[in-house]
Amino acid sequence: MAITPPSERIWWKQPIARVELTWIVIAFIWGLIMFFMMIYWHGAGEQNLSNEAYKITPVQFSQRAQAMIDEHTVRREGNFPVVRPPPGSDVYLIARLWQWWPILELEKDQSYRLHLSSMDWQHGFSLQPVNINVQVHPGYELVMTMKPSQAGEFGIVCNEFCGIGHHTMVGKMYVVDDGGQTDDD
Ligand code: CUA
Repeated sequence: MAITPPSERIWWKQPIARVELTWIVIAFIWGLIMFFMMIYWHGAGEQNLSNEAYKITPVQFSQRAQAMIDEHTVRREGNFPVVRPPPGSDVYLIARLWQWWPILELEKDQSYRLHLSSMDWQHGFSLQPVNINVQVHPGYELVMTMKPSQAGEFGIVCNEFCGIGHHTMVGKMYVVDDGGQTDDD
């Protein structure tokens, strides 16, 4: 069977069927509703933290992180410093191929300014099991004001594909209760 052109040259110019038009209108109205729901959920829903973003070079960011690490490291786990910055302070977490650096130890019910940036290319910060997800880019730092509400050990996984070691890019964060020890059992 040969492939033949449509009999009408302008084959696509057809009136829109009523049912199709109805669905277009429904989809459009739903889109508008969801648009305004974003604003509502931002305030009332259990959303990711609102963040601020600033330009910063990887060198500047790593210097600030290193200053925090030098001042507030309390112990080491393997090669990783465990850093316990004072409540209310700026805390830094470096994303790079393929690790989250350092391990942060925060106090429950205290607020911190968490700064995130990448040293190389894009990574995804995913805090588990609370499921906070943000993209981490080189050249920018994201700053989130956070107040941990549960003590324990939290996992950080990278959820943006970043090369051959992506699946090994896991880190952790401790939240301790009232200056006590980590909820380790
Ligand atoms: Cu970093 Cu995937």
